[in-house]
Amino acid sequence: MLIAQITDPHIRLPGDRLAGRIDTPGFLDRAVARLNALRPRPDLLLITGDLVDGGAPAEYALLAERLAPLAMPSFLALGNHDGREAFRQSFPDLGYWDAGQPFVQYALELGECRVLVLDTLDQGKPSGALCRVRLDWLSAELAKDRSTPTVVAMHHPPVPVGLARMDPFRLIDGAERFKELILGAPNVERVLAGHLHRPVTVRFAGTVLDVMSGAAHQIHLDMPGEQPLSFVFEPPAIQLHTMVAGAGLVSHRVVVDPFDGPYPFRGG
Ligand SMILES: [Fe+2]
Repeated sequence: MLIAQITDPHIRLPGDRLAGRIDTPGFLDRAVARLNALRPRPDLLLITGDLVDGGAPAEYALLAERLAPLAMPSFLALGNHDGREAFRQSFPDLGYWDAGQPFVQYALELGECRVLVLDTLDQGKPSGALCRVRLDWLSAELAKDRSTPTVVAMHHPPVPVGLARMDPFRLIDGAERFKELILGAPNVERVLAGHLHRPVTVRFAGTVLDVMSGAAHQIHLDMPGEQPLSFVFEPPAIQLHTMVAGAGLVSHRVVVDPFDGPYPFRGG
């Protein structure tokens, strides 16, 4: 089982570049092409939120159109730029999520591992929240299976990571209870997040929190926050998560855009 992950594609309509510069659908097209070309091909793609930039139905329609060439199923999570109602109306018949549910949360049972996808959207705020309903769902899902290696995927990181201008926008409401639940589930191999538009790794609640680079723009690295929040075109990436005997869940990072090579070390 090879699980691909991208995050924060921030789809906007053509001609409406993000901050006047970022062609977000173009970035997603390149990620889809790279995913389709990977060998072995991933079994599925998980997108950890900020699917679109303005939470509008037309943006979700464009997201669906740009994901259509993907040669593997995709599984969507919500971020702070998403709109839950527009998402619900745009994707009424997703096979993996019941649109009658109040939040976009679901479990993927994948045999050797499972993925629990959380909805941390706190509509109207850049920070995230997990209310009682969402936390109770997580608690029940974790209690169902205390042995299968489990990945918890969400948009907002649950702890500060030393980025002064982004840390206030982490998971706020429900963060303490979330940590307790993860601490009580030693089979959680990884917590996956996005939102920061930077790759960050943190020990968290007895497991590993892994925050991914964005699928389009990245946030300029300015840990003390001395400058206004700004973006850069550092290379976007895909992560590949797989179970490896003797190790557990292993994650490989792959740059999206073309690069030179490979060349053999010998005999080339
Ligand atoms: Fe984002």
